[in-house]
Amino acid sequence: MTAATPPHLPRARLIAVGGGKGGVGKTFLSANLAHTLVSAGYKVVAVDTDIEGPNLHTWLGVNSPRTSLADFVSGRENKVEALLQETPYSGLGLLAATHGDLAAAQPNAARRAELLSALRELPCDFVFVDCGAGAHPATIDYFLVGDEGLLVLHPEPTSVENTYTFIRAAFYRRMQLAMRKHDVRECVREAMDQRNDRGIRSPLDLLRAVEEMDPEEGQRFSKTMQAFRPRVIVNEVASTEDIKLGFSVRSVCRKYFGIEVDYAGYVNRDQAVRTAVLKRKPLAEVHPGSDAAVYLQRIAGKLAEAASKAGPSR
Ligand SMILES: Nc1ncnc2c1ncn2[C@@H]1O[C@H](COP(=O)(O)OP(=O)(O)O)[C@@H](O)[C@H]1O
Ligand SMILES: [Mg+2]
Repeated sequence: MTAATPPHLPRARLIAVGGGKGGVGKTFLSANLAHTLVSAGYKVVAVDTDIEGPNLHTWLGVNSPRTSLADFVSGRENKVEALLQETPYSGLGLLAATHGDLAAAQPNAARRAELLSALRELPCDFVFVDCGAGAHPATIDYFLVGDEGLLVLHPEPTSVENTYTFIRAAFYRRMQLAMRKHDVRECVREAMDQRNDRGIRSPLDLLRAVEEMDPEEGQRFSKTMQAFRPRVIVNEVASTEDIKLGFSVRSVCRKYFGIEVDYAGYVNRDQAVRTAVLKRKPLAEVHPGSDAAVYLQRIAGKLAEAASKAGPSR
């Protein structure tokens, strides 16, 4: 990756890191891709949205964040910038998710929208949004708002299964938000139930149904569908078979869903990752020459390349 003078991108690029399952490496990747880009000279903010299970601060060596997203949810603080914490790494800011009120953990949709537009205005190059596990609507909304949506999965059938569930949920939610006419939105909502009476079993079936109902909405659907392009990362690979998984997820999504998924790369299962988390430090600070650190560099390089191609839009 080439070095940059921060901040040099015309606007902050939001990278959401999600996936259907817990423990697959979303937080590891959010923290370490953020740190890798900072080491290359970019200015980055890492945001933890997992109020029920916040961990991002630990990876970034911030032991007890003084402020967090919880202060924004409760209304104690309305300026997102005032909630940012410094980390030991120059150019890397943190919005933690600790000390949340577990009775009202997530912001409502309007507050979430305020948060996300404030994140886009931060004076930095990249904002990483670490999402919680599962396909809860709040989680999906965090994922969908990204300029990039990274989907992390493990090379295990359970994780692959949850990845497809997540992709489906994210796709239908995106379509519901994109459609303008009430009856078409209603059709999308019904299609979310896999056993719906309309016989819609896949995103492709839904596209056809919408085209038939309303050609104008059909066109919008088709355009939104083409723009929906999550990128998968297979984490903790231990064999060539594991590496191939990213390609098979891509072809399954294309064939059965009509959805294009990019394969952004993989990271091997590496003992160095555990050593780093035990020290509460990013991997490259502890084991810069480890295989996992090299794979992270590759993925970060792709993100930087995509960002520079995206061009100005602030
Ligand atoms: N590539 C890897 N190699 C070895 N261990 C890993 C790797 N990625 C993640 N881990 C381990 O898995 C644990 C869970 O990862 P985490 O990022 O917290 O998952 P999630 O955020 O998806 O719930 C980490 O604490 C780390 O110890
Ligand atoms: Mg996590």
